Amino acid sequence: MIGYMFVVLLGFLGSALAKGKADREPKGKFSIPALDVKSGPIVLEANQTLTITCRGRWELSWALPSAMIGGQEKVKLEDSRCGKQRQHYCSQLTLSYAQAKHTGSYRCRYRHQSRKQNAVYIYIADSRRPFVEEEKSIPEVLYINEGKPLVFPCRVTNPDARVSLVKQYPDSHVLKPDQRNIVWNSRRGFIIRSPTLFYVGMFSCKTSLNGTTHSISYLTHRQVNKIRDMYLNISSPHEALQGERLTINCTVTAEWNSRVSFKWDYPSKANSSNIIYEEMLKSKTHLVFYSLLSIPKLHSSNKGLFICQVFSGPVKREVNASVKVYDRPFIRLKARHGVCCRGSCRTEVLPSISKTTGFSCPKSHLV
Ligand SMILES: *[C@@H]1O[C@H](CO)[C@@H](O)[C@H](O)[C@H]1NC(C)=O
Ligand SMILES: *[C@@H]1O[C@H](CO)[C@@H](O)[C@H](O)[C@H]1NC(C)=O
Ligand SMILES: *[C@@H]1O[C@H](CO)[C@@H](O)[C@H](O)[C@H]1NC(C)=O
Ligand SMILES: *[C@@H]1O[C@H](CO)[C@@H](O)[C@H](O)[C@H]1NC(C)=O
Ligand SMILES: *[C@@H]1O[C@H](CO)[C@@H](O)[C@H](O)[C@H]1NC(C)=O
Ligand SMILES: *[C@@H]1O[C@H](CO)[C@@H](O)[C@H](O)[C@H]1NC(C)=O
Repeated sequence: MIGYMFVVLLGFLGSALAKGKADREPKGKFSIPALDVKSGPIVLEANQTLTITCRGRWELSWALPSAMIGGQEKVKLEDSRCGKQRQHYCSQLTLSYAQAKHTGSYRCRYRHQSRKQNAVYIYIADSRRPFVEEEKSIPEVLYINEGKPLVFPCRVTNPDARVSLVKQYPDSHVLKPDQRNIVWNSRRGFIIRSPTLFYVGMFSCKTSLNGTTHSISYLTHRQVNKIRDMYLNISSPHEALQGERLTINCTVTAEWNSRVSFKWDYPSKANSSNIIYEEMLKSKTHLVFYSLLSIPKLHSSNKGLFICQVFSGPVKREVNASVKVYDRPFIRLKARHGVCCRGSCRTEVLPSISKTTGFSCPKSHLV
């Protein structure tokens, strides 16, 4: 509050002084600082010298393209008093050997009132570097946020550059700006106003300059937590014999770019001989994750409820199956299509077992 009042007071004093000294000056003049360059975009060639002078009623400061901050750039700022009665503040910016990466907006503002500013956009064209950003060998990751535009930030060093947006994966497309959903802006890049699932994948901005193709790649990512479907594959009813292998396949289908994690809960979970194997399969429209729980030798202590839990961000889902383990090899099941023989018993109600073991027994042993 005190700081704010101080600034207001200074501003008032400053304007009162200016009034006294230079009465001829129109009232609204220098309400924002003035630049000595034309207001439209300026195009320079690489290695040329850029000079801009800013003039205003109060002390000035600059906001420059980020490539000029912190680097050992050949930028020089000279502040002075100017005007007939030296009543104004001037600041001259000189950038010798301007480079493509210096392309951007150059803003001059009042030091104590940074919203009062004037800006000019400067392109520094380089026949070997069409894009302001460096071309890297690994794609930049862009995040798609729901309800927000997606910007491929491939801004260019020359406003006349012809750039195309190419979808490279999962399928190949050249996307033409339509000025409705796909907008090209040489100062920002390609803007997708309402990005759909189509915009998830690998994209690149491409341009051709003096016979050479240049491109910048992007990998777009949409964090979604959408589980479409989930099931356990274990035949029903879930009955098995002691000593046999039990395998349960927990399968989840989810939207592209989902990430899921599995958690199993079941009796005798502490036994380290149990094996869990997980894998992800990609399809054009969705992802399939599965987790296989394998118990090499069933024991009666393994009977009970097997629960597969799946987490995707805040979303949690689970499926369960109840497994019975018969500890005696002699069991007679009521199934009509069953085969039972001395020593062990197999019936049609245990299709997974008969499939996996290919069980058969001599007719003479039938009970
Ligand atoms: C700019 O100057 C440097 C050093 O003199 C030179 O290597 C480079 O090729 C020049 N760039 C352009 C675009 O002329
Ligand atoms: C274009 O390429 C040719 C040969 O590679 C070169 O001689 C010429 O200077 C280049 N033009 C520009 C504008 O860089
Ligand atoms: C797994 O079970 C689901 C439904 O329970 C079924 O639709 C699917 O075909 C089964 N998959 C396999 C490989 O058995
Ligand atoms: C598990 O289920 C998935 C989907 O149903 C299937 O693609 C995969 O092959 C199954 N894995 C095994 C080992 O049965
Ligand atoms: C763990 O499982 C193996 C075979 O599946 C079994 O032989 C062993 O007794 C079990 N150990 C415990 C502590 O349950
Ligand atoms: C097992 O699944 C069934 C049906 O999906 C559900 O009704 C039941 O509450 C679940 N049991 C447990 C212990 O989670």
